[in-house]
Amino acid sequence: MSLSEKIKQLRSEFLNELTLASTSKDLENLKVKFLGKKGPIPALMIELKNCSADDRPLLGKQINDLKEELISHCNLTESRLKDAEMLARFSSEAIDPTLPGRRQYLGRSHPLMQMMDRAIDILAGMGFSVRLGPEVDTDYYNFEGLNFAPDHPSRDMQDTFYLNTEWLLRTHTSNVQVRVMEEFAPPIRIIAPGRTFRNENISARSHVFFHQIEGLYIDRNVSFADLFATMDEFWSKLLGEKVQTRFRPSYFPFVEPGLEVDVRCTACRGKGCRLCKHSGWLEVCGAGMVHPNVLKKGNIDPEQYSGYAWGMGIERLTILQYDIPDIRMFTQNDIRFLSQFP
Ligand code: PHE
Repeated sequence: MSLSEKIKQLRSEFLNELTLASTSKDLENLKVKFLGKKGPIPALMIELKNCSADDRPLLGKQINDLKEELISHCNLTESRLKDAEMLARFSSEAIDPTLPGRRQYLGRSHPLMQMMDRAIDILAGMGFSVRLGPEVDTDYYNFEGLNFAPDHPSRDMQDTFYLNTEWLLRTHTSNVQVRVMEEFAPPIRIIAPGRTFRNENISARSHVFFHQIEGLYIDRNVSFADLFATMDEFWSKLLGEKVQTRFRPSYFPFVEPGLEVDVRCTACRGKGCRLCKHSGWLEVCGAGMVHPNVLKKGNIDPEQYSGYAWGMGIERLTILQYDIPDIRMFTQNDIRFLSQFP
């Protein structure tokens, strides 16, 4: 076969194989095979040296033209294949912008913590600072230091979770009172938010585990009027409008006199409704003037100092504010319930 024929044959062989290249990988192999250093074109060049000097320029040009042609075919095909492959990849990876998005739920604080934070903010603004006490405490701080007689019914096993004869789960945040008095000299102006525990049957209205905020103010000449003013101010700020407060005598061993504080029902404004059990009033906290015996336990002279204290249940407040039917909803972790508190 003459060189000229070989050139023609190589060309048609190449064009033939080119039609079979369907991926850029195929094309790569084709390039190596036809245009590589050990491929047919350098071989033709070697053969050219054996041709007559007359034929050589023309044949040489034919070989070079062929080489150019193969290169340009390869380049064209390569860009066509790459474009097609890119399009295929894009359509396989495509996103559908019409699909509904996945909602991201943001965490938020628990309704009880929201209520607690609001109360703390208001009281901090009134000059009270936060002190925390232990949830596991001794009989002394929970009862004895607070003037509970040894046979007081609250110490009964029915109400208190005793861990042993000395240690218990605090039944109220009042356990912070004597601790703070031992630690600081008056004036004392603190609030103590926290968890409290009582050994009661769990029902829609009571739970073994709940939250309180305690308030304590001790200074010279602190009087009943100070307690009233603080209650008025605090409850009005917390409930969002000027609310009327009412004080009823009550008994707690650590205050004398002791009071129960009521506010005008926020739902019916005193007309009487289901929430206030038709009384027009909501009971919101226990309060009173700190008992002289308690001041003495805290090394404070009751002749020189006086004070008031109050304690409120956060679950109860939250239930009243939102008319929640069952206290157990707070601990069931149901997102449908919790997400209703923005
Ligand atoms: N510790 C009382 C309770 O849990 C509330 C209270 C606190 C009453 C301070 C008077 C003064 O019921």
